[in-house]
Amino acid sequence: MLEKFERYPLTFGPTHIEKLERLGAHLGGKVDLYAKREDCNSGLAFGGNKLRKLEYIIPDAIASNADTLVSIGGVQSNHTRMVAAVAAKIGMKCRLVQESWVPHEDAIYDRVGNILLSRIMGADVQMVDEGFDIGIRESWEQAIADVKAKGGKPYPIPAGASVHKYGGLGYVGFAEEVRAQEKELGFAFDYIVVCTVTGSTHAGMLVGFAKDGRERNVIGIDASCTPAQTKAQVLNIAQNTATLVELGKELNEEDVVLIEDYAYPVYGVPSQETKEAIRLCARLEGMITDPVYEGKSMQGTIDLVKKGYFPKGSKVLYAHLGGAPAINGYAYTFRNG
Ligand SMILES: Cc1ncc(COP(=O)(O)O)c(C=O)c1O
Repeated sequence: MLEKFERYPLTFGPTHIEKLERLGAHLGGKVDLYAKREDCNSGLAFGGNKLRKLEYIIPDAIASNADTLVSIGGVQSNHTRMVAAVAAKIGMKCRLVQESWVPHEDAIYDRVGNILLSRIMGADVQMVDEGFDIGIRESWEQAIADVKAKGGKPYPIPAGASVHKYGGLGYVGFAEEVRAQEKELGFAFDYIVVCTVTGSTHAGMLVGFAKDGRERNVIGIDASCTPAQTKAQVLNIAQNTATLVELGKELNEEDVVLIEDYAYPVYGVPSQETKEAIRLCARLEGMITDPVYEGKSMQGTIDLVKKGYFPKGSKVLYAHLGGAPAINGYAYTFRNG
């Protein structure tokens, strides 16, 4: 589906799929639970889902003769860390806007984890006191204008690399990769669980899995806590991406399965149940999920298995999209484990 698009390699190659034997057994053995380890996809600053997206965006950045990647996210954004790493790797400068998206109080929140790594990688980090919003932000537009005013050539990458014209392509590639791995495994997955916030991971998967009729088997777990906006953004990106790759099939609102039940109390703040899911997964599988994204989709996966949402015997693939560095910002939350 992606042959005609240029790709700048930033990842190791196909990511590992592993069976979560102990977690699956703990949940009663009703379904076969697997994880696709997008969190271990690269040697670039701990990797994660953004690299798959950026692989299809960076050729355009290079072709534009830009000298500075300009992006935006929350204080503990994984995405901005990944943009900083890629800028370093390709020899560009990096300007990052870090907004106060999370009402989380921890004395070291703006010093550790993702933002620490971005600073080490040489990004110009600007803190902006604005709340959570996955839309286009004025602070980002100002940063782009500022780079220009200082004689630089900015290349804008929106939050989560999502509402970029090529933002959905990387996760179309994920679906193609899963299809190839299914041939080797000798079975196909019945469900793919994905954490959804800015939308292009879910949207790309929708398009990729629509090719074999599995678009409604992609189960998005909302972590934005603004699900209407997230759902609309997923659909919009999916439709644009479908046109780009010439899917030849209409995607509509019903194709976007987004479960809203696990994002509470608010974006970036883990509930008691999210914290329990993080601990359970860590203690049974040694697999680290974070309080902002993957802990919430892990909570969703666990709860949906318990509730019988997936028919008995289903093969469920949890997409682990990365994000572990942010857990350093929650040191007090997990002070007793
Ligand atoms: C670790 C992690 N998981 C999930 C997501 C959600 O992906 P998306 O923003 O493409 O919906 C993100 C980024 O926002 C992330 O960093």
